[in-house]
Amino acid sequence: MTNTNSIKELLTGNKKGETVNINGWVRTFRNNQFIALNDGSTINNLQIVIDFNDYEDSFLKRINPGTAIGVEGELVESLGKGQTVEIKANKVEIYGDSDPEKYPLQPKRHSLEFLREIAHLRFRTNTFGAVFRVRNSLSFAIHKFFNERDFVYMHTPIITGSDAEGAGEMFKVTTLDLENPPKNEEGHIDYKQDFFEKPTNLTVSGQLEAELGAMAFSKVYTFGPTFRAENSNTSRHLAEFWMIEPEIAFADINDDMDLAEELLKYVINYVLENNIEDLRFLEQRLIQEEKQKPQNERSDMPLIEKLKFVLENDFERLTYTEAIEILLRSKPNKKKKFKYVIEKWGADLQSEHERYLVEKHFKKPVILTDYPKDIKAFYMKVNDDNNTVRAMDILFPGIGEIVGGSQREERYDVLLERMNKMGVPADEMQWYLDTRRFGSAEHAGFGLGFERLVQFVTGMGNIRDVIAFPRYPGNARF
Ligand code: 4AD
Ligand code: MG
Repeated sequence: MTNTNSIKELLTGNKKGETVNINGWVRTFRNNQFIALNDGSTINNLQIVIDFNDYEDSFLKRINPGTAIGVEGELVESLGKGQTVEIKANKVEIYGDSDPEKYPLQPKRHSLEFLREIAHLRFRTNTFGAVFRVRNSLSFAIHKFFNERDFVYMHTPIITGSDAEGAGEMFKVTTLDLENPPKNEEGHIDYKQDFFEKPTNLTVSGQLEAELGAMAFSKVYTFGPTFRAENSNTSRHLAEFWMIEPEIAFADINDDMDLAEELLKYVINYVLENNIEDLRFLEQRLIQEEKQKPQNERSDMPLIEKLKFVLENDFERLTYTEAIEILLRSKPNKKKKFKYVIEKWGADLQSEHERYLVEKHFKKPVILTDYPKDIKAFYMKVNDDNNTVRAMDILFPGIGEIVGGSQREERYDVLLERMNKMGVPADEMQWYLDTRRFGSAEHAGFGLGFERLVQFVTGMGNIRDVIAFPRYPGNARF
């Protein structure tokens, strides 16, 4: 049936009394009479009422969970509980059967672990329907935010010949025969014979290219996939994840923090305004899930309240040095409850420390700035103390680091010295250094991990449940 309506449109619009067409997948079929139909446009099902006298028994038996059908009928007021309107069907067409003996999604609660095994079907559940509609809204809101502020959306390369960012381990890209690679005179692999005539990798970040863009357009952002071959089997890490990386010229670290805070609040507000039914469902899901946890591991606030709390409060801004002082004085550090006890200034912060600051100490989002230069990347602007760099990380409750960014080193000499000290091949990076030779200017940027954002907004505990087909060590299924 073409020319159909969406269920969202029928439930919210004003089409009562009209003849409508609808397509979708059956969730349940009760008493040979009531079909709960879902088309993915909303968390809500539309009830279809059929008169079983109009159909053969063999036809009715084919209406099962998962069956794809089309319906034509009148949209009428519903007398039943839980819905305002329903369709009185006068025509039902079956597009695709779904064998109830074999269909893995039964009308009951399935564990997230089980659903991960059938990720190709999990969109059809209420939970994943809600998560991926929210993900879609967040993605749209990000583009809307930047577009309204005259940022240029840049597409940076996925395959890169530079491994200088140093953000993580890289995946190699090659067309060489791995069984029998060509060797040069020294006995090493001869990349001259490879596709790009040099070693190449999947990108870990679009930042360096975005910086080049910012030096012409003033304000740019990227939003694309990035890849890290770290062997991190955590609920916060993926081998393939999406990142938003704005880069702004004529801007310092304070402008950078303001932009990040404004962006996060804007997109959270957008979802509150446009996905409230999905959020209500996800909030209830989380409450149910947390009932199985001990009291001290449960969230302080229900999901929607937590999102509003982030909107209504300024993020706490403090320096790394101040954070270290707080951590040194903290109970878990004194009692050696941290896995990595903080001994002194200069220590790299682990997620347990970040979460202590956010969840126990400040109880709100935190922005940490001015980290020791030895634990941060070469491109960050060195402070006058010559010990710290103008880095800024945003830490969120339940998530830890959600944003990593900095003001960039715009001084050619200082940057070159840093590169040499840190073993970054300056000769291969002339294109990057050129921006500091011709019209260099103060600039700053950050990377927002998109899946961590989706996790925060949906309350999903595992990052593998907020991307359609997650890639992580040992898994590239689907
Ligand atoms: O802190 P990161 O490594 O920063 C960069 O890549 C900079 N080039 C960004 C910039 O300044 N333009 O990564 C940025 C964010 C992290 O804060 C985190 O939210 C997310 O990306 N992230 C990951 N998300 C999922 N899985 C992983 N393995 C991630 N690694 C980083
Ligand atoms: Mg980081």
